[in-house]
Amino acid sequence: MKGKSLVSISDFSKEEILGIVKLAADFEANPNQPLLKGKVVASLFFEPSTRTRLSFETAINRLSGSVVGFTDSSSSSTTKGETLKDTIKMVSNYSDLIVMRHPLEGSARYASEQSDVPVINAGDGANQHPTQTLLDLYSIYKTQGTLENLNIFLVGDLKYGRTVHSLLMAMSLFNPIFNFISPDELKMPDEYKLFLDSKGIRYFEHSEFTDIISEADILYMTRVQRERFSDPIEYEKVKNVYVLRNSMLDNTKDNLRILHPLPRVNEIHTDVDDNPKAYYFTQAENGVYTRMAIMASILGLK
Ligand code: CP
Repeated sequence: MKGKSLVSISDFSKEEILGIVKLAADFEANPNQPLLKGKVVASLFFEPSTRTRLSFETAINRLSGSVVGFTDSSSSSTTKGETLKDTIKMVSNYSDLIVMRHPLEGSARYASEQSDVPVINAGDGANQHPTQTLLDLYSIYKTQGTLENLNIFLVGDLKYGRTVHSLLMAMSLFNPIFNFISPDELKMPDEYKLFLDSKGIRYFEHSEFTDIISEADILYMTRVQRERFSDPIEYEKVKNVYVLRNSMLDNTKDNLRILHPLPRVNEIHTDVDDNPKAYYFTQAENGVYTRMAIMASILGLK
């Protein structure tokens, strides 16, 4: 894994993924280690972020590394017309590792091809969000005690949701059953269903979820992302299509945990927050330990 970029979750093998999960647990037990002392990590966020950026920066600080970068491309020379290629060439001369979020699908792969240092994809458009997936896997492992043979329900925006695309690919290594719940406009794209077909993984598609969540081990809620719609009327039609309420959890399994990559808008009512099955805030905390594990592995420090 040393020196490898992480652009798509499929860049990591099952063994490498399990290694990250184990290492994240080690970092959770002992989060303050000076492993990144003397290392500079560039944090290039061309799109807004709270959790991904701040959990990376927290991880870097706790490991005694340094961060350079920008949180808004309008404060970079992109506004003067500098290309992504030139930006990456420059920044790879300044840093040991680049973490990048960008609105264009494929931009992370392109950046990794231009860079002399590894690139970690912190989300590229509607494509992939592999570090979110690794923290999701760590969260699933912590709450279920296994990643194998789980019944995973993915709810909401399955068309543009990069977190569900990456999670689907990673969980396919662990013999899951998937249930996809979305309006017609936001169904899981065919390419991901063909991927599951090729692996012999079972999946079912639904438009309602109230009657079926009693079977779920993991209920992974997602936000309908306004920023992915070119037509606001289309967004208005689907924005409130699913709202999870506490009363809907009465007949669910004891081991059920509700995950959400966050931010939420209103797809999980706040009355769910105090239910012991609500796990999304701890899931976000797990991002710090998982990103410590990812950076330490890629830099060959663990
Ligand atoms: N989950 C996630 O990517 O959140 P942010 O957009 O706040 O980074």
